[in-house]
Amino acid sequence: MRRFRRLRTGIAMRDLVRETRVDRKNLIYPIFVAEGEQIRKPVDSMPGVFQYSIDTMEEILKQIAASGISGLMIFGIPAHKDEQATSAYDPNGITQRAVRQIKERYPDLLVIADVCLCEYTSHGHCGVVCGHEIVNDSTLPLLAKMAVSLAQAGADIIAPSDMMDGRVAYLRNALDEAGFVNTPILSYSAKFASAYYAPFRDAAESAPGFGDRKTYQMDPANGREALREIEDDIEEGADLVMVKPALAYLDVIRAARDRFDLPIAAYNVSGEYAMVKAAAANGWIDEERIVMENLTAIRRAGADIIITYHALDAVKWMEKR
Ligand code: PBG
Ligand code: ZN
Repeated sequence: MRRFRRLRTGIAMRDLVRETRVDRKNLIYPIFVAEGEQIRKPVDSMPGVFQYSIDTMEEILKQIAASGISGLMIFGIPAHKDEQATSAYDPNGITQRAVRQIKERYPDLLVIADVCLCEYTSHGHCGVVCGHEIVNDSTLPLLAKMAVSLAQAGADIIAPSDMMDGRVAYLRNALDEAGFVNTPILSYSAKFASAYYAPFRDAAESAPGFGDRKTYQMDPANGREALREIEDDIEEGADLVMVKPALAYLDVIRAARDRFDLPIAAYNVSGEYAMVKAAAANGWIDEERIVMENLTAIRRAGADIIITYHALDAVKWMEKR
């Protein structure tokens, strides 16, 4: 008889043979920074997550820096939205100002800047709208302006999440021309049109005003197409690629891990967080154990980097172990 249980006899033995670990350096914490002052607004659907303004964000930055995680992902919420998303590439826009201040105060924290127009457009779509169409090619120059202005503000990594075709090559070229040859691109390569983003759209005030995102984000049914998206982004010059959401797409993470050799990020998205928090608040699950199991599963599937709203809690739980 094979006695698998020999290696499960105690904590030390199990620690010795554990195949997968979650390290704080694998984690990135997303933050929401809104235009205005004295804002500390809870996001109802994401308990524990707040919108801050630049003058109040120190509270969360301090926690991020103290936690020892690798960095943060920033989402700006502008006061002004229009058809051309002008606040997205304003050198003095909310996101640019926030990035500048974060890098001034915390130069060692990696700041990943999400590049997408949906928080900045009056219609809430990720690209330029003509009639009811989201027009791919007229969106690219705006994304490029946004990416360059965020690099100028000090962003360490540029992360396009818009799902327009050809944007990685376009952004690479724009960054290079502006002198940012050393700024990496983390592409949201396999981003699915998911119901799991709903709480984020409350947090970032970015729900589309008409229609949905299914003409640019991927069909959740398509695993092979995800690999083609990733392959294309790598050819276009992505330095890191992402699969999003994470938990319902672990097969995609695994397939990408087996096929590609560059770093893979997984975004443990708002809806995944909200479900855990809701069940935990009801006492139906053990939040700590569920979160650590989920993060471990994402790592086991093959992700190097996990972007997660659980990051700060997870670090506290790791410290106890
Ligand atoms: C912007 C963007 C979204 C998320 C990250 N960047 C929302 C969307 O595409 O609707 C979702 C993140 C989350 O749900 O936590 N395009
Ligand atoms: Zn978007």
